[in-house]
Amino acid sequence: MTETAFIHRFEPAGDAGSPPLLLLHGTGGDENDLLGLGQMISPGSALLSPRGRVLEHGMPRFFRRLAEGVFDEDDVRRRAHELGEFVTEARQRYGLAAPIAVGFSNGANIAAALLLLQPEALAGAILLRAMVPLSDPPNADLGGKPIMLLSGQADPIVPASNSARLAALLLQAGASVTHKVLPAGHQLSQADVALARDWISSVEAKAA
Ligand code: MLT
Repeated sequence: MTETAFIHRFEPAGDAGSPPLLLLHGTGGDENDLLGLGQMISPGSALLSPRGRVLEHGMPRFFRRLAEGVFDEDDVRRRAHELGEFVTEARQRYGLAAPIAVGFSNGANIAAALLLLQPEALAGAILLRAMVPLSDPPNADLGGKPIMLLSGQADPIVPASNSARLAALLLQAGASVTHKVLPAGHQLSQADVALARDWISSVEAKAA
């Protein structure tokens, strides 16, 4: 597998001090979807944005599912591994530090799986409307990695108990978790953008 196995967009950093972002779209999205979000939340960051390689009725995704919210977990593991390889190779090719993942919905779920299966692939993550990706996750050591989890109070796809479970799982694995439940559904709101931007600034300030 080479990094070209994922169709992707890459935007170089405007400010070498800003962390690179790995942008992971939702079901039916593509590599262009989250570039605008990335620019809004961290204007100086390099942006690495792959397109999910699984197709569901023609809609790109990052792993297969059996039904809405019911995942093919063997595929989750395999695809998370592939994404980890893509990140390693893209980092070499573009000269990047470990990125912060910014994932929405299906993209947030593969980011959560990658954190649990291959923690060294990411420096942290913003998980927008994420769910627990694996029913039997490995004992990961997230060693203080910063993770922001933004959930929607009225999300018809992600029950509140599920996002709370994910937050607990990441915390138990040693991540530094900020979990906020917004008055929103599954779609993103202005509040998501503002919170993600402030959170990235605080992570950058700590790293500086
Ligand atoms: C998923 O399949 O990852 C979740 O159900 C979110 C979605 O993509 O709708």
